[in-house]
Amino acid sequence: MAETLLITGGAGFIGSNLVHRWRGARPADRIVVLDLLTYAADPSQLDGLDGVELVPGDIQDQALVQSLLERHGIRRVLHLAAESHVDRSITGPAAFIQTNVLGTFALLEAARAVWVGQAGCRFLHVSTDEVYGSLGATGLFREDTPYRPNSPYSASKAASDHLVRAFVHTYGLDAVTTNCSNNYGPRQHREKLIPLAISRMAAGEPVPVYGDGLNVRDWLFVEDHCAGLMQVLDHGSQGETYNLGGGNEWRNLDLLHLLADLVDDALGRSRGTSRKLLTFVPDRAGHDRRYAIEAGKVEAELGWRAETEFEDGLGRTVAWYLGRNGS
Ligand SMILES: NC(=O)c1ccc[n+]([C@@H]2O[C@H](COP(=O)([O-])OP(=O)(O)OC[C@H]3O[C@@H](n4cnc5c(N)ncnc54)[C@H](O)[C@@H]3O)[C@@H](O)[C@H]2O)c1
Repeated sequence: MAETLLITGGAGFIGSNLVHRWRGARPADRIVVLDLLTYAADPSQLDGLDGVELVPGDIQDQALVQSLLERHGIRRVLHLAAESHVDRSITGPAAFIQTNVLGTFALLEAARAVWVGQAGCRFLHVSTDEVYGSLGATGLFREDTPYRPNSPYSASKAASDHLVRAFVHTYGLDAVTTNCSNNYGPRQHREKLIPLAISRMAAGEPVPVYGDGLNVRDWLFVEDHCAGLMQVLDHGSQGETYNLGGGNEWRNLDLLHLLADLVDDALGRSRGTSRKLLTFVPDRAGHDRRYAIEAGKVEAELGWRAETEFEDGLGRTVAWYLGRNGS
């Protein structure tokens, strides 16, 4: 049966990919996007999409959220709105507490108030593997790994995860949480590692590499992530958390070498041109060394796994950003 959903942060990177995917898969549904349209948003990504209403506004505005839930009869919320950039959380943490903690709290309060006595209501909270802290050379984050957030960003996401958990246990709210690894793909803001590197390489400008470049991240193609979110929303169990990962660990330096070769190939340059632009810069304060996810639970219980080969996804990502650059 067709429904109207609320997607918060739907003008951001993952949110806009999710809106596109949802429209493609379930065209009868309607989507309300609530987004503050911060620097990170690109509302033009939603241009021309039928059945999508963009409401500019703050998730901290509980009255606005309640009115949207009531007016549109919304029973399912996908919550992606956040301040998401670790570097910005180091220089200006206040916005992270406001949006990620107080904003999530306002959404939960709105859902609790409006959904009383209604069946079929569900809140999907999208979070990060960064809440688990940093790994050494071995080991994987599991759903029962203790929380040890190290940055203001990850601490604010951890706080929001705890609020979701508390609303499930205290008020019986039907909520599920996903913690995922680093996403890559089209529509990401150029401040993030992969889009930044592609645009700098294309322009022949230095590409900053933090520290020794040996920090490890597990990369997940955004379309795979969005498929996982839909699966968890539809079939996850109330109160559960699911780790979504790509099983795809890369040291930053190795990733940048691969990316440099893909950019050179795409631009018809000789290989090595972009690699020469890599420039080591002082490390990020408190930079977590390694993240990696054990995604066996969501695979065993819900049948989701990341499907995109890294070189394929990265190649599509390079093509998308170079196309937008006009390079
Ligand atoms: N990008 C990743 O690699 C990654 C990895 C794990 C988890 N996540 C989580 O996924 C979610 C989406 O991440 P993203 O990379 O798409 O982020 P993004 O920064 O690209 O987009 C965030 C969106 O939220 C909006 N927003 C910010 N504050 C708001 C507020 N107060 N009210 C309403 N809207 C607001 C912004 O305008 C923007 O459109 C976040 O919760 C993030 O923590 C992201």
